[in-house]
Amino acid sequence: MNHSTIPIKVTIVGTGYVGLVTGACLAELGHQVTCLDVDRKKIARLKRGLMPIYEPGLAVLVKKNLKAKRLFFTTDYPKAIRGSLIIMIAVGTPARRDGLADLSYVFQAAKSIARALVDYAVIVDKSTVPVGTAQKVKRIIGQYYQGRFDVVSCPEFLREGSAIKDFMHPDRIVIGGETKKAINLLLDVFKPIRALRLVTDLASAELIKYASNAFLATKISFINEISNICDHVSADVKEVAYGMGLDNRISPSFLKAGIGYGGSCFPKDVSALHQMAGRNGYEFKLLKSVIQVNNLQRQVALRKAKNLLGSLKNKKIGVMGLAFKKNTDDIRESAAIDLIKLLQKAGSVVSAFDPMASLNAKKRLQGVEIARSPYSLAKGQDLLIIATEWPEFRELDWKRIKGLMRSPQLVDGRNLLDQNTMRKLGYKYLGIGR
Ligand SMILES: NC(=O)c1ccc[n+]([C@@H]2O[C@H](COP(=O)([O-])OP(=O)(O)OC[C@H]3O[C@@H](n4cnc5c(N)ncnc54)[C@H](O)[C@@H]3O)[C@@H](O)[C@H]2O)c1
Repeated sequence: MNHSTIPIKVTIVGTGYVGLVTGACLAELGHQVTCLDVDRKKIARLKRGLMPIYEPGLAVLVKKNLKAKRLFFTTDYPKAIRGSLIIMIAVGTPARRDGLADLSYVFQAAKSIARALVDYAVIVDKSTVPVGTAQKVKRIIGQYYQGRFDVVSCPEFLREGSAIKDFMHPDRIVIGGETKKAINLLLDVFKPIRALRLVTDLASAELIKYASNAFLATKISFINEISNICDHVSADVKEVAYGMGLDNRISPSFLKAGIGYGGSCFPKDVSALHQMAGRNGYEFKLLKSVIQVNNLQRQVALRKAKNLLGSLKNKKIGVMGLAFKKNTDDIRESAAIDLIKLLQKAGSVVSAFDPMASLNAKKRLQGVEIARSPYSLAKGQDLLIIATEWPEFRELDWKRIKGLMRSPQLVDGRNLLDQNTMRKLGYKYLGIGR
């Protein structure tokens, strides 16, 4: 790591997935970082080096930088803001009922920052926010602080599960700003990171984030539509996706058919962009379909389960995976959770297993037994459904699992396993679009 840069005092407001990773990585780059949150319990635990989330490599990075006194945690705004040149807002922007982004946390954070400001600082929107938010943040800060300040948009593109790698080796760093001083300060913060810098205006930076997530979600819904055609014409979507991805203009990423995307970003960001377009007098027809296709894709797994079991009533079904994707304990908008609810509605007796997300899922699910291992999950099941693409599911002793199940039937909602091997083992196996 390049530590030759001049350390800058940075405060991160909101110590969640993005805030904590950003804070730990900036400290690792040599900066003096304070992570602030309103959640006292979370901050008290972090001060002791206890992680609120599971993210590969994060605990080590946090502990190392705590010890090196480059990383601090607090709930005290004045203490965190004083002397900070860069203040990054990384609070949540969940979906409101009408699909628009709920900006109340961002505005509250802006107000608290403004009240604590004593000197020039650059306020950075790291949260994913609709176009125009930076201007609103500017107005809020101006209401409570009469000194000089700048607002910059620097959207975050990290992915849960590979967040540290993504932060340290991004494809690009997008900086939207209005003054040279603020932009240069942000460029200094990211100096040790080798990546393409895109310096642009505030509105474009804000839109780049939404457009990127919406495009990736579109790719997923597109391949899911192709998988549905595959089911009708006996083609194999894995082959089709591979063939498509060989074309450089298409690329193989985000061409994996399954039971649809979830998580804390895609669903809310696609819907926010769709709503944002509508509020500005433009109907984004494509995104409406992307959302519809994604919602329907949960039903595909249900249909496949019915194909194997007939009625789902009173059938024992084990769901493998609860996290919205591999390598995280995040269950926000997880397709697995949606699927479990659909199965319960159909009268099935559902149990589940996840290597990391069981604790979080327990709080959200009722009437679902959470197994301690995939093997205890398999006992007596009429059907297993893979809902999250945990790579360790591939390494399981599927012969042993077969022996534990009441009938060896499997719906592979993420096309994780080799269908020929599974059939040879004696499973009735159904994938998605194959
Ligand atoms: N999670 C991701 O993978 C990811 C990736 C890129 C961008 N984003 C965006 O980053 C933002 C944050 O997402 P996240 O997943 O880290 O959220 P999160 O829910 O994990 O964390 C948000 C944190 O902000 C804190 N908070 C709320 N109000 C506060 C306030 N007024 N002052 C201080 N702290 C406050 C909460 O207590 C919480 O700890 C969102 O806009 C999201 O869309 C997320």
